[in-house]
Formats: sequence, structure tokens, C-alpha cells
Amino acid sequence: MYFLGIETSCDETAAAVFTEEPRVLASIVASQVDLHSRYGGVVPEVAARAHLQRLLPVIQEAIDQAQIRLDQIGAIAVHYTPGLVGALLIGVSCAKMLALALGVPLLGVNHVKAHIYACRLATGEDIFPCVGLVVSGGHTCLFHCLDPLTFDLLGGTIDDAAGEAFDKVASLLDLGFPGGPAVEKAAAAGRPDAFRLPRSFLHEPRLDFSFSGLKTAVLYALRGKDLAQPARAWSDQEKADLAASFQRAVVDVLVAKARQALEQTGLKCLAVGGGVAANGSLRDALGHMTDKRGARLVIPGRDLCTDNAAMAAMAVEQWKLGHFAPADLDAVPAF
Ligand code: KG4
Ligand code: ZN
Repeated sequence: MYFLGIETSCDETAAAVFTEEPRVLASIVASQVDLHSRYGGVVPEVAARAHLQRLLPVIQEAIDQAQIRLDQIGAIAVHYTPGLVGALLIGVSCAKMLALALGVPLLGVNHVKAHIYACRLATGEDIFPCVGLVVSGGHTCLFHCLDPLTFDLLGGTIDDAAGEAFDKVASLLDLGFPGGPAVEKAAAAGRPDAFRLPRSFLHEPRLDFSFSGLKTAVLYALRGKDLAQPARAWSDQEKADLAASFQRAVVDVLVAKARQALEQTGLKCLAVGGGVAANGSLRDALGHMTDKRGARLVIPGRDLCTDNAAMAAMAVEQWKLGHFAPADLDAVPAF
């Protein structure tokens, strides 16, 4: 049985072919970085139009790479929530059209939860129950994942997502887009203790996050509190120091909250997904924390952390239970 997965929630147009094991036979991602970089962020209308142009060729490429024919596809899985509504609509409409034309079931997948399912794909083993940490451009959440489909939300960000903070800081430091990898690269040459930056809720039991104060603290460190004054030029070393201090602050809170979630739930496995999980400092720090606790850490390779359609293989679990989507499935922007 072959499944086709579709992802268009933000700025990657992606399609994948997988089996019910699940085993991924092809995963194609067409990045839109070139289209959005001059704006310093994702422009929703531009993203939707690009999905429209690219989705069918990307699906064709996935099918070709999997060495199957379209009429061998037995079910269509699509990320229908959360994301940019115009972008989601392209994927959802295409999925509905294909399901109807092929006469096969449609499966609606939650993109945020699918980031955790990417851990199941990466290991090829059962990882549930576990604590799930999703750190992406739009979300920062901790879940108690009871099984592949049942997730209790333990906490989340009350304002910005971790990835959004990386993107904003990259823009403040003029490091380019996408911000996460640019900040990570700059931070490699910097001192993480050069600037004292806030770590929200660090010593509180709640499992929530807040990154907007940290973002503002970076702005003040860069510009001073009187934003009416002209900005002075910063050397590359100063920028590297601020990038490294910012990255350390984000990593400190993510690791501390993940540790608290393991303590509070008594679980022994931490599964991490989302674009920010591609960050080397975060991966190392989570590795040390889980080693110390004797817990298992599952983080997929970088390609499965950032947006892709292979993680829509979560649909296989829904298919096994007969949880099909209605033919009028809608795109739902909010989580
Ligand atoms: O999961 P993802 O690809 O898309 C969403 O679902 O949002 O995450 C994208 C986010 C962006 O904010 C990007 O800057 C961040 O992940 N990111 C990183 C790194 N690579 C991507 N953040 C920190 N370090 C990285 N190496
Ligand atoms: Zn994502």
C-alpha cells in the first residue's frame, strides 16, 4: 500500500511517498527561500502562489523517485493544520482533488504533531509514550505523547515561537534569511556569556515559554534603549557574541523545560522535532541533559526536523484506525 503525503503549510512545497510500515520511499522538498529572502521573512501570498506553481511537479517527482505510478497510490495524506491559511489551502485542495480522482481515502494530518512523528520515522521503532518537544518557526510546545495519535499539551509559548525569535534576531543583526541557520553560524564564533539575556520562566514549574522579552533584550543590547538614536555599526565579533548569547538563552530554557517535563511525567524518552531542532547547540545540550537523566533522546536528522512531507506518515496510524477525513476537509490555520 502506497501513501502520498503533501505539505504546504508555510514556505516549503513538499511531497512524499511512504508505505504502511511506515517506510519512506521518496521525500521531495522545494524550498522557497529564494523568493522570501529579500523580504526578510515569509510573505503568505507569495508562499501560496509558489505552492500553486510547484506542487504538482513536486508530487510527480516524488512518485517518479519512488518508482511507482500515480494510480498505485492507495491514500492521500495532507497537513491541513496549522499554518498560513492560503498556503495550507493549496495542499488541501490538491489532496482532495487527487483523493476524488483516484477514488482513495483522504487523511488530514496535524503538522505540529507530525513533527514528533518524524522521530518515529527516524528511529523506525516505537517511541511512545514520550515527552514531545516541538520547536519550529510557528510553534514551541511540550506534549505528553501517550501513543502516536494521542498528545496532551503540557505547555507552550505564550508569545513568539523559538524559531520566530531566531528569525527576528537574525534580521536585527542583519545576518540574512532564514534566520536560524544564520544565527547558528554567527554564534559559532561568539562567546555565549558575552551578554546577559533573560530566560523566561526558567525557575518556575510551569511548562510554558516566552521569547518576546528575549527578542526585545537583544534589540536593546544592539541599539540601546533610546531607539530614536541612530544605530552604531557593530563588528562581526560583537554580532557573533550577541548571536551566541541569544542562542545560549534559548537553548537553556528549551533544555530546562524539557527536563522538567520528563521529571513531571516520569517518562524516560524525549522526542524532539521542528526546524529549531536542527540547531547543533540545542541537540548537544539536550543530549547531555538526557544522558545525565538516563533518558532516551530521539531527534531526527536535520532534513526530517525542518518541514517535509515524509512526516505526514503519521497518517498511517490514522488509516489503521479508519480515521479518514471528510471530502470537505478544510484548511485550519490555528493550532
Ligand atoms: O519546522 P520548520 O521548518 O517550519 C515551521 O513549521 O515553522 O521550522 C522553521 C524554523 C525557522 O524559524 C528557522 O529559522 C528555524 O526553524 N531553524 C533553525 C535552524 N534551522 C531552522 N533555528 C535554529 N538553528 C537552526 N540551525
Ligand atoms: Zn513545521
